Amino acid sequence: MTHIDETSTLMLEDRHSSGVYIKRDLTIVRGEGAYVFDDMRRAYIDCVSGQGASNLGHAHPAIVAAIESQCHQLMVCPEFLHTPTRAQYQAALCAATQMDRVFLCNSGAEAIEAALKFARVLTGRRHIVSTMRAFHGRTMGALSTTWNKAYREPFEPLIGDVDFVPFNNTERMISAITPNTAAVILELVQGEGGIHPAEIEYVQAVEKTCRSMGALLIIDEIQTGFGRIGSLFAFQQYGIRADLLCLAKSIANGLPMGAVLLRTGLPSLPPASHGSTFGGNPLACAVGLAVLQTLQTTDLIKRARERGAEVLAYLNENLSSQVVREVRGRGFMIGIELRQKVAPILQALGNEGVLALSAGPTVLRLLPPLIIDDETLWQAIEIVTRTVNNATR
Ligand SMILES: Cc1ncc(COP(=O)(O)O)c(C=O)c1O
Repeated sequence: MTHIDETSTLMLEDRHSSGVYIKRDLTIVRGEGAYVFDDMRRAYIDCVSGQGASNLGHAHPAIVAAIESQCHQLMVCPEFLHTPTRAQYQAALCAATQMDRVFLCNSGAEAIEAALKFARVLTGRRHIVSTMRAFHGRTMGALSTTWNKAYREPFEPLIGDVDFVPFNNTERMISAITPNTAAVILELVQGEGGIHPAEIEYVQAVEKTCRSMGALLIIDEIQTGFGRIGSLFAFQQYGIRADLLCLAKSIANGLPMGAVLLRTGLPSLPPASHGSTFGGNPLACAVGLAVLQTLQTTDLIKRARERGAEVLAYLNENLSSQVVREVRGRGFMIGIELRQKVAPILQALGNEGVLALSAGPTVLRLLPPLIIDDETLWQAIEIVTRTVNNATR
C-alpha cells in the first residue's frame, strides 16, 4: 500500500467521500481506552465513543482477543448453516434480555427495518405510531418513523401509515393506538432528538395499551443499550417488556452489528420472510459475546449509573444558566441544552482536547465510554463546564 500522509487524508476524503457527512477537520489515527489520538499525536478524551458504538472504549483487551481468536477460526457463515459461536451468542443475548428469539443484522436502521416488518407480518396490521423528536435511522422504513422532516421529506413517499405523537404524552399516545395499529415504536431516552428520558408511568401506560389493543411495542435501545444509561438495558429501569427489542451500536463495541429480540409468546415468524447475508456472522457474534461477558462480570454499569448521576448533579450546579437551558440524561448519556448553537462549542471543546457530539442544533451530547477512569472523566467534565460557561452568544 502506498503511504498516505495526513494532509492527503483530509484531501482524499473530502474529494471522494459521498458528501452526506458534515465533517470536522480532524484526522483520528488511533484509539486507546477513553482516548483517541490525531495525526499530530494529540490526545483527546473521547466523549463520542463512535456515536455510542464503543461503550467499552478503544482496543479493549477482551474485544481484541475475541476478534483475534475468531478470525482465525471462522469469519463468515450464513445463517442457513449452524455455527457454535452464533449459537452461544444467541443464547446469551436472549438470556441477557429475557427474550425468546433473536434476528441478527448489521446496524441500527436494519434492526428497526426488521422490527417494522416483523410487526406487520405478526399482526397483519399496517399502522405504526412513533413519537415527535424520535430518531430510528435513515433507511426507508426506519426513516418513516423518524421525526425530523429535514431527514424525511426529500425521500417521500415513505412507507406511509405512520403517526407521530408528542413524547411523554400518555393521553395522545393512547388515543393514537387503534385496532389497525401494528406497533408503537419508542426510545426510552431519545438520543438524536436531544437526550430526553421517557417517564416511567408513560412507558408503562404505553406497554399496557399496546397489550390491550394487540399492538406490538417496539423498544429502540440502539443507543441506550449495553450499559449506556446505567443498566445493561434501559427497559430494566422502566419495569416493562418489549415485544420487539432493537439493539445495535455498542452491541459489538464498534463492529457493525444489530439485533431484534422477540418476546416469548409471539407467533412464529414465517420462514424466509426476512434475512441478511452478513447477519449473525461469527466474528460479530464472538465480539458480541465478549461485550456481554465483560459487562456482566465487571462493575462498569454500576459505575456509569453512579458517576453519571454525580456528573449530572455537578453540571446542574456549575453550568451557567445564561448559556444553558437544561441538563438531562441517565448514566453516561448526557445532554446539555444550550441557549445557542452547539457547533462552536464542539469546536472549542476539540481545541481543549475533548471530543463530544451534538444531539440536534442546540444540545451538547456527552457519551463517554463506560471504561473511562474517574480522573479522565472529571477532567473532561471540568473542560466541558469551563468551555460552555465561557461561550459567548
Ligand atoms: C435510537 C437510534 N435508533 C436507530 C439508530 C440508527 O442506527 P444506525 O446508524 O446504526 O443505522 C440510531 C443511530 O443513531 C439511534 O440512535
